Amino acid sequence: MSKNLSELSGRKAFDKNLFEELGRAAKQSGTPSTEKMEVLANEFIMGKANIYGTASFYDFLRPENQGKKVYVCNGSACMTAGTQTQLKNDLLKNYKAEEIGEMCCLGRCHENNAFHVNGKNYSGDAINEIVNIKNKKINVLDKYNSSSKGTIVLTSALSSTNDYYKILQTALTKPVDELLSELKTSGLRGRGGAGFPISFKIESAKNATSKQKFIVCNADEGDPGAYSDRYLLEQQTHSVLLGMMIAGYIMGADKGVLYIRAEYPEAIEITQNAIDELRIKKIIGENIFDTNFNFDFKIIAAQGAYICGEETALLSSIEGQRPEVRVRPPYPTQQGLFNKPTVVNNVETLACIPYIIKNGGDAFAKIGKGKSTGTKLVSLDGFFVKPGIYEVDMGTPLSDVINELGGGFKSKIKAMHIGGPLGGIVPMQKINELSIDFESFSQNGFLLGHASIVCIPENFPMIKYIEHLFQFTAHESCGKCFPCRLGSTRGFELIEKSLTSDYKIDKELFTDLLTTMEIGSLCALGGGLPLPIKNAITYFNEELKQYFSK
Ligand SMILES: Cc1cc2nc3c(=O)[nH]c(=O)nc-3n(C[C@H](O)[C@H](O)[C@H](O)COP(=O)(O)O)c2cc1C
Ligand code: SF4
Repeated sequence: MSKNLSELSGRKAFDKNLFEELGRAAKQSGTPSTEKMEVLANEFIMGKANIYGTASFYDFLRPENQGKKVYVCNGSACMTAGTQTQLKNDLLKNYKAEEIGEMCCLGRCHENNAFHVNGKNYSGDAINEIVNIKNKKINVLDKYNSSSKGTIVLTSALSSTNDYYKILQTALTKPVDELLSELKTSGLRGRGGAGFPISFKIESAKNATSKQKFIVCNADEGDPGAYSDRYLLEQQTHSVLLGMMIAGYIMGADKGVLYIRAEYPEAIEITQNAIDELRIKKIIGENIFDTNFNFDFKIIAAQGAYICGEETALLSSIEGQRPEVRVRPPYPTQQGLFNKPTVVNNVETLACIPYIIKNGGDAFAKIGKGKSTGTKLVSLDGFFVKPGIYEVDMGTPLSDVINELGGGFKSKIKAMHIGGPLGGIVPMQKINELSIDFESFSQNGFLLGHASIVCIPENFPMIKYIEHLFQFTAHESCGKCFPCRLGSTRGFELIEKSLTSDYKIDKELFTDLLTTMEIGSLCALGGGLPLPIKNAITYFNEELKQYFSK
């Protein structure tokens, strides 16, 4: 990242945001014109190459996006469900081939058949309504289960907005150190993948000296199979917003930025409506509840890049820079958005804060198991009898989630990919050894991650699944470090060659490739991919050995 570019972008910050301008410029044709990019380069006093470097990075800004009218989900769950070839064929009856693009993933893993048209997502039976959808005659909503087993922290119905924000009103009468202490006591750890305690980050940003600080909600939920953040944004919006406001109050931030993925258009609309409601009710703005606390929100709609879920790439993205992962230190809490102290947290992490402030850190810490306190949302895909979003206490046996909540499987499954593309591939024989908490998964050689479950059915070749993971990483790599940039492409080529010819992959070379990626990559995209690949080799050696020479 360039510190200077952060400063330049920060001059206009949100009054005229460079990244949003690029999105606006691409609205009509699918990519910003060269002339418009030149105008923006002059206006923001940046080089043309910088602007082009940004625009050409994103799926929905790059020149290849020109003319696309409909997008088919190519995420892992739709792929293993095998629904997308028929969907594409049906779409071809109504659209030209060059008008059909791809999106990954639409968060419709519970229904599959997922596609995106005219700024809306569709799935399940909507495949039968393509003509009406194209003509904007109907809107088909998706359906999924949502319930809980254990304590309800995130899945209760909202009584009334005014009542709910009394939690904030009370919090504003307390010293910030008292609120921070509740967060510490709660043991709340980040739900975005790394499990880092939230109180550390908020305290660090609180101690940083700056007139301007930011709290950023990472709503880029790019993990195929995960749709729990979508659930929270669409159905528990005020928990997320209130969590951000309390975090902002503690650290001294007056601006909350929600970076929401473009693949979730409904979430963007619903969240904006909730923010508008708060403005009308004067719960955001200046002197909130007659105190000297000021706070406002800004939604930034992403443009299709998985790496923007990584927190430093996300910050560069908001600044309109090419979203390459930043080397740390400096950490975002010291030098984040526009070089100001910034805390980035996942949607679910932030949504836990109101419960903690209302009930006390102790009450939250009592839920769960060991260092994994509180509850966790789990996303179940369409292979479950009852797909949906379920809230469970940390430490709940995985078998309870699968059998009691999910109702078991609709067909024979050989493995589950849990925790996104960088999570582990869990074979069926491991189910009874795992519980939903950080420690159980890592001790068994897997990763809890977002706790999304994508099923791999008995008849789905594991080699094809591995190929998909390499291809995904090669497409999404930010290119900053070579172990990931080159390693993911080489891995994909090796698998493809073994599938399309009698070529056998040298096992030692393949292991070297995985080790290089694991220890040499700058972030957890390149560094995390080897985990599921190694799991597959360990547990599905009989099936995979035919593709290797020794
Ligand atoms: C490749 C990659 C993708 C990521 N995607 C997400 C994401 O979609 N959502 C998220 O909250 N965190 C994601 N993260 C983790 C973030 O970098 C960061 O740790 C997180 O937003 C911090 O919030 P938390 O502490 O509340 O989890 C990703 C990390 C990597 C390396
Ligand atoms: S591991 Fe991949 S995504 Fe992460 S910094 Fe390196 S090239 Fe970028």
